[in-house]
Formats: sequence, structure tokens, C-alpha cells
Amino acid sequence: MSNIGSYDERVRTFDWSLAEQELEYTAGAGLNIGWYCSDRICDKGGADKLALLWENAQGEEKRYTYDDVRVYSNAVGAVLRRLGVERGDRVCLFMDKVPELYIGVVGILKIGAIAQPLFSAFGDESLLVRLSNAETSAVLTQKKHAFKVRKILDKLPHLKHIVIVDHDGKTPLKDREVPFSLEGSKAVENLECFPTKAESPSVLHYTSGTTGMPKGVQHVHYSLISQFLTAKWVLDLQESDIYWCTADPGWVTGTSYGIIAPFSLGVTQCVLDAGFSTEAWYRFIEKNRISMWYSAPTAIRSLMKGGDEIVKKFDLSSLRHLASVGEPLNSEAVVWSERVFGRPFLDTYWQTETGCIVISNYPGMEVRPGSMGKPFPGITGTILDPSRNEPYPAPGKIGLVALKFDWPSRMRTYWRNEEAFQKKFRNNWYITGDRARVDQDGYYWFAGRDDDIINTAGHLVSPFEVESALLEHPAVAESAVVSKPDPLNLEVVKAYVTLKPGFAASKDLDLEIMNFTRKRLSPLAMPQEIEFVDSLPKTRSGKIMRRLLHAKEWGEEIGDTSTLEND
Ligand code: PRX
Repeated sequence: MSNIGSYDERVRTFDWSLAEQELEYTAGAGLNIGWYCSDRICDKGGADKLALLWENAQGEEKRYTYDDVRVYSNAVGAVLRRLGVERGDRVCLFMDKVPELYIGVVGILKIGAIAQPLFSAFGDESLLVRLSNAETSAVLTQKKHAFKVRKILDKLPHLKHIVIVDHDGKTPLKDREVPFSLEGSKAVENLECFPTKAESPSVLHYTSGTTGMPKGVQHVHYSLISQFLTAKWVLDLQESDIYWCTADPGWVTGTSYGIIAPFSLGVTQCVLDAGFSTEAWYRFIEKNRISMWYSAPTAIRSLMKGGDEIVKKFDLSSLRHLASVGEPLNSEAVVWSERVFGRPFLDTYWQTETGCIVISNYPGMEVRPGSMGKPFPGITGTILDPSRNEPYPAPGKIGLVALKFDWPSRMRTYWRNEEAFQKKFRNNWYITGDRARVDQDGYYWFAGRDDDIINTAGHLVSPFEVESALLEHPAVAESAVVSKPDPLNLEVVKAYVTLKPGFAASKDLDLEIMNFTRKRLSPLAMPQEIEFVDSLPKTRSGKIMRRLLHAKEWGEEIGDTSTLEND
């Protein structure tokens, strides 16, 4: 029996207080996610239960019980407190998917500081933008990534401490660096959690904006209520599950459903800290008897490429429930997974800003391959007619996906950018920035984004951020960044570039510019293709018209070009 039972019945009787009751939370009382993710599970008899099973590319394994998570997160909290980190201070986690990341987030939340996870593949420019915007006061990182922080240190006056989480006790330390080691630290049996409340800030996740630099999405401890219940009803997490969320906590999926939800539900979760490989993934499922698997369309498409035969080499019979997020899940992938795993991947839709799954397929509800499903019970969604900002009177038309902004894990604002936050609303509807249609039965069908943001392999990349990095290269005069279709990653980044006098297009320059952006930003944001052109299409007021270049890449109609300067 699934946790949700009947979707329709849940919609009819829904109240978020259901989750509050299960978590024994009463309005106005203290609420600390860190405590819920460790101490509470131990208090309920789960101290010896396996919380985290970690494996890396070399096959090295580490296991942590809930009591380990409790004691080690206490140690992280204690060291930060000793350094003077206080409630509300931003503490960044800049590391691979190592145990210190998962346990570190819990420790940071316990002391009331704000956890700011950042993808470890970020280059120094991506890191600088996010650390300086957040005025981050401490970074937890690994030895191997510390050099990127050192490189930008003199531009970060607010950054007081760099905690090296895998310090061997010997390697010399540089300016502001502090040694730490989970296993090597003294067990901290008791740590007084900061008495955070529902509206106390918890997590700050940076996401790409349509214009301007990335924005910090500000979440609060009350988000737990939605993350807990959606994990229960959509991911169907149950006591005996062995859960695998493949997402990196540098992105919201890896935090909401890779740390907060599974730990607060007391399930056992597995983490594979290694790059993608079909064999390695199937082996990981087989070896650990994974029962619930939350992944993403690009990974599923990569597995599909591996073919059906390889699946038969492994015993994957432990899998009982699969879900996907981040990009459109094509119907072929749903049908394929049903054929080879005996169950379909259920598509779930949400955003950094929503904090939890908002539109989804549910166990027991008919799956319509290619559809994102229906709004989570208690969440009101609609399709707005963009010309009136009113819901369409009848289903069927493509419009803006909009939500009533009233569930517990909605973002509270963009960090120090209330203006951008307010711009997300029209007629009291929160505008997601996506387009979709609803069918007669209430199923949502994704149609595309309503802005220039590029979704590559499930990760959002802002053209503006890539263009800014390109402009710093000495050869680049102007640039326009758009998406280009890709069979595996759905979209990849493509840059159109004009060169400064004295520079000529060449394969070497092309590679040099690619590398330059990869190092500054990240491998995902690096353009996969650079096209050198003599000029870029501009409006009469001088604005580069990405729309035209986008249409060219996608073989679409170019549309109205009446404002074009060089037509
Ligand atoms: O465009 C939608 C796409 O990813 C965006 C949100 O990205 P981010 O904030 O990074 O969070 C991703 C993980 C929650 C959305 O605005 N997206 C997410 N899920 C889906 C999707 N597009 C189509 N189908 C989905 N299931």
C-alpha cells in the first residue's frame, strides 16, 4: 500500500497540519531541521539505524547510523560556534558528495546558521559571485577544492573561516583556514540547537536568473513540513526503504530530497560519490538493494543509451518505486523504464523557489507518459493566459504555469533582492517561468521555459552569466549565449562570439575560450560550441536579440524582426 493511498481523496481532505501532527510540531513552537534530521530520529528509537551509506568511485565505503549523524553534526555545529558563527550567518558547503556535506548541512542548521551548498565543480568566478552576494562568513571545503577559495580570498572581506573538512593534521594551513575531520574530531554528545522557529532562515540556494547574476533563494525551517510530506506521498518513502537520490546537494534536489526529507523520515539513504557510468549505477542498486530511486531525465536517457541487455546482467529486483525531476521526462523514457525495470519513472516537477515537489505523478494514479502529473494536494496550480494574466477558462491551451504561493516550503524572498522576488508575481499568482497546458483530466504537460534560461542536463544556466564570463576573455568583443538542442542533455550551451580587432577565429582560440569559461564557471556552463561571427543581431536600441539565434538553433520561425537594427 502506498503512503498516499488515493490522490483524489487526499486532495479532498488535505491540510498541511497532517505533516505538522506527524512531526509533532505545533504552531509557534521551536522548529529546527537539523534536530529533526538527527536527534529526533534517535529519540524515536532509530539511533542504530543506518542513515547514510556512502561509496566513492574507488569503491571505498563509509556507513553512518542516525546516532553518528547526530554526534558528528553536533561536532560540525560546535566547531562553527567556537569560530564565532552565529544564527543567520551564511555557511557555504563547497565539496563533493562526501559524508561531510550531508552531515555538515545538519550541523549548520542546528546552530541556526544558513546553509549555502555550492556545486564543487564551480570555478572561482561562479564561487566568487555567490559568496560575495551572500556575504558568506565561513566555507566548509575539502583540501582538493580549497585552492579555488584561496584564489578569491582577497575579494571576500566577509569570509572569515575556511574549514578544511578532511584535514590530516599535518598539511600546512593558509590564511583563515581551520583544520577539521569528522572522524578525528572529539565526539560531541550534546549540542544545544539554536531555538529556530518556523520562519527562521535555513537554506540559501543560488539559482540562475533570466537577467543579471544568480539569485539566492531563501528558505526557512518551516520548509520541512512540505519536504517531509511530499517525500512521503510522492517518493513514497517508507521505514524499510533503501533510498538513492542521485542529485548533488549543490542543487536543490540534493538538499530537499537528498538531506532534509530522507533524514527527517528516518530512512536509509545511499550516496554514490562518483561520475556517471551505466554499469556502476546498476551495480550500486544491486549491491545496496536500493528500493526507491530518485533521478533525472538526462541520467535516464544515458541509461537508455546503454541498452536493455546490460540491465539483465544485474539483479535490480529490489527497485519498487522510481521518480525523476529536473527536465521534461520524455514518454519514451517512461515506457522504457517500465519495460526494463518493471516500473515507470514518475515525473515530478518543481523548482529551487518552490522548495518541494509541486506538480507530480503519484503512486497509484494513472501515469500518462510525457505528463508531469497533477498539483500536489494542498497546492493550487493553473495555466495563465499571458495576455490577461488570468487562468484560461477551459483546459487545453498552452500558457504560463502559475501557483498560489501558500505552501510551507515556498521561498520567502531572493536574498537581498526583494524587487526580483516581487517580479515573480502577477495577479497574486506566482509565475514559475515555465509554459505548459492542462488536459481535460487535470494533467499538466510541459511545453518549455518562458525565458532565455538554458536547462542543460537538468541544470539551469543563465545566458547572462556565461556572456559575462566570455566578455572577460581578451579576444571577445561581444557574445550571445543560447541553447542548442542535444539528444542527451536536452539542451547545451552555445555561444555566438564576435572578436576584438587583432584576433582571428581558430580551433585553438575556440578551445581556449571554452576552457576559460569552464574554469571560471563550471563544466555545465561551458559552451559546447562557439560560433565566431562578424556581428550579432541587435535591436535598434542596441540590445542583442538572443531570440533570433535561439530560433536558428531550434529551426523555429524567427517571428517579428521589426525592431532589428541590422536587417
Ligand atoms: O524549467 C523547469 C525545469 O527546471 C526548472 C527548475 O530548475 P531548478 O530551480 O534548478 O530546480 C530543479 C529541480 C527541482 C523548472 O522551472 N523542470 C524541473 N522539473 C521539471 C522541469 N521541466 C520539465 N519537467 C519537469 N519535471
